[in-house]
Amino acid sequence: MANTVLVGAQWGDEGKGKIIDFLTETADIVVRSQGGNNAGHTVITGGKKYVLHLIPSGILRPGKQCVIGNGVVLDPVSLVGEIEGLRAEGIAVGDNLLISDCAHLVMPYHRALDAAKELAKGKLKIGTTGRGIGPAYGDKVARTGLRLADLMQPAIFSEKLAVRVEEANAQLQAMGAEPVSFQEINDASLAAAEKLRPHVVNTVLYLHKALKAGKEMLFEGAQGTFLDIDHGTYPYVTSSNTTAGGAATGSGVPPHRVDCVLGVMKAYTTRVGEGPFPTENAQISDLLHGMGREYGATTGRERRCGWFDAVSTRFAAMVNGIDQIAITNLDGLDTLETIKVCVGYKLDGQEVEVPPSDYQRLSACEPVYIELPGWNTPTDHCKSFAELPQNAQSYALKLAELTGGKLIIVSVGAHRDQTILL
Ligand code: GDP
Ligand code: IMO
Ligand code: MG
Repeated sequence: MANTVLVGAQWGDEGKGKIIDFLTETADIVVRSQGGNNAGHTVITGGKKYVLHLIPSGILRPGKQCVIGNGVVLDPVSLVGEIEGLRAEGIAVGDNLLISDCAHLVMPYHRALDAAKELAKGKLKIGTTGRGIGPAYGDKVARTGLRLADLMQPAIFSEKLAVRVEEANAQLQAMGAEPVSFQEINDASLAAAEKLRPHVVNTVLYLHKALKAGKEMLFEGAQGTFLDIDHGTYPYVTSSNTTAGGAATGSGVPPHRVDCVLGVMKAYTTRVGEGPFPTENAQISDLLHGMGREYGATTGRERRCGWFDAVSTRFAAMVNGIDQIAITNLDGLDTLETIKVCVGYKLDGQEVEVPPSDYQRLSACEPVYIELPGWNTPTDHCKSFAELPQNAQSYALKLAELTGGKLIIVSVGAHRDQTILL
């Protein structure tokens, strides 16, 4: 029985949702352990497209257990909306979804503060998803956050909320933003609470019982390595640990119960929002956007695109302990004669071993490229690795070799059945 942590090895949107959905066939439990509804995980199955934000992508497989762990920040109203949206599509959401009572709440004042802070930053804005993630994690760390356990006790929740709203409104008004209404938030949150109540448990206890019973777990990372609050391109990051360690702290499953770490990476690189991106490139951006691809699953924003960056994925392999690799969107490169891959960075004429920690020096890095031959033929129909054109096979194997990990999955389309297991 292998417990797998799946992480994004780039800047998010690597195709984690699709790979989780594929792997869930053989797993018992899918766990989200960090992030919030800033995530947008796309799964296409049975001709239908689903975008999951807070609910683990395993929900689409009947009989699989989904868990939202303590490390997640959740907006109760939006979570209820997501649950009801899935039900309207005929997806069962009942006992198969458990939510940690330690998960912190994202409240409307967090969203308002997120927007006000971005506005105040002007040119230095982060380009957040506007979902209130930073302010919610900020309250958690400052020990002033509200948790799902509070929401389950209406009187306690309302009392704490009143204090928080007063503080948040003072902050909002100082920034020239509109205050929020205690009454509206209180009413909407308590209505959502009753709908969430059947799902709320101590998920640590549940997961430990499941470990004892030999259940197989998949940890569904959100965002990506370079959006990690510690290891990412700070301050152009999200506010949680998106790297493998976050799976343990965000779920209460001990690190030594994780058997492998699967790094998901696109065959090229994308990033949404501001911040350094050494291999960003207009040719590949135009190519992908021209195909109608690479628009954000959560905000609809156009994603920035660039060549594959092996300096960063090598660092991602190190910090996450990636031993297995899934390469997605290989088909995005189907029309190219030659493909560039970044294998080094030069800073002031000197090779650097890892991406510099500060964004100023990272922005000044010049990528060193190798060129690999393209395959210039469609791959989206290929059902086995052997069926892929020789150059496509070599390209995927080269990315895995440069990153340092075993290639186990190649994805050539957004549909569940466009997934090649090696
Ligand atoms: P996530 O956040 O990591 O789950 O990724 P997103 O869902 O935000 O973005 C990945 C996008 O690529 C989605 O539109 C997926 O449907 C799509 N996708 C995933 N894998 C492939 C692939 O191999 N080929 C193509 N064409 N699309 C893919
Ligand atoms: P998934 O799970 C891509 C980015 C935002 C912004 C920065 C901070 O779908 O891969 P935040 O709202 O978290 O404070 O924004 O992080 N970001 C993502 N980019 N995919 C995501 O999630 C992201 N979640 C946050 O664009 O640059
Ligand atoms: Mg996404």
